[in-house]
Amino acid sequence: MQQPTPLTANDVVPIVMNTIRVNMATGYDLFLKNQVEGKICYVLYCSGEHAIRQSHLEELQSNGIQNLYIRNEDQKKYFKYIESSLSSIVKDRIDIKVKSQLVYNVAKNIMTDVFDNPRSGANVERSRGWVSGIVEHIMTNADASTNMLSMVSYDYYTYTHSVNVSVLGLLFARYIGLDSDKMDVLGTGLMLHDIGKTQIAPELVNKNGKLSNDEFVEIKKHVELGFVLLRQLGGLDEASFYAILQHHEREEGGGYPRGIKGSEIHDYGKIAKIVDVYDALTTKRSYSDARQPFNALTIMKNEMKGSFSWPYLKHFIMFLGSGGG
Ligand SMILES: [Fe+2]
Repeated sequence: MQQPTPLTANDVVPIVMNTIRVNMATGYDLFLKNQVEGKICYVLYCSGEHAIRQSHLEELQSNGIQNLYIRNEDQKKYFKYIESSLSSIVKDRIDIKVKSQLVYNVAKNIMTDVFDNPRSGANVERSRGWVSGIVEHIMTNADASTNMLSMVSYDYYTYTHSVNVSVLGLLFARYIGLDSDKMDVLGTGLMLHDIGKTQIAPELVNKNGKLSNDEFVEIKKHVELGFVLLRQLGGLDEASFYAILQHHEREEGGGYPRGIKGSEIHDYGKIAKIVDVYDALTTKRSYSDARQPFNALTIMKNEMKGSFSWPYLKHFIMFLGSGGG
């Protein structure tokens, strides 16, 4: 019988062993790094249909092994697996950096699915589940804020932007003392704030450079399109809609879709506006470089006067200055 070709470093990615739940089949194969005749290869350790036992993990640990490996193409399965036990993972004794990175990667995975299939109620529910997970992570792990803040990505994709806005907004919410329930509601709205963009031609959404007046009118529709889409799906807390409907309103009026101002804008709308603009400015786009945090805040404070609620912007500047702590 022909032996299967051993996997090489190009075929696999490492995962932290502690993230594997015992007594539960993973659904994807796990590999161990090995050396055969001086060559590194990856050998099957546990197939996806079999559960790993605690004693197996302990044996590996006693041999100084910390990483297992999965096939590249199984990464999505792995993140879905982590997603299903996110709440226990954030409480586990896993390195805080590993946990924060997992929370971030799970969100990216969920958001690619949301943007691929925005009319799926199940995907929206997954976003809500993730928000509860990250809120728990932020509230139970003292260093989560600093860790997560450094993870916010500087490459722009609609889905990374949604994750960044949600992470930044939630860390800021904790900084200003919002409770977990409010964070859940706000975070879901932030995660889904741009979902209406899925209902607009991708050439327009991804267009580089200046938009014509007509194109801008079209792009502005994403706010209400997102609202309608999520309303139809149902299951979202009423207050989550403030972050979706009001993230392009301006403190002094003149924003869209309604041009409301001041106290007419909900606190979640004011927070959404700040984190949305801040992330857009600090992210690398094909037509502009990523700005440094200090530059972005200077632009927001001086060149975009009247756009933001000053008390919130002031706290946001202090929050970033404190490194998220
Ligand atoms: Fe938007």
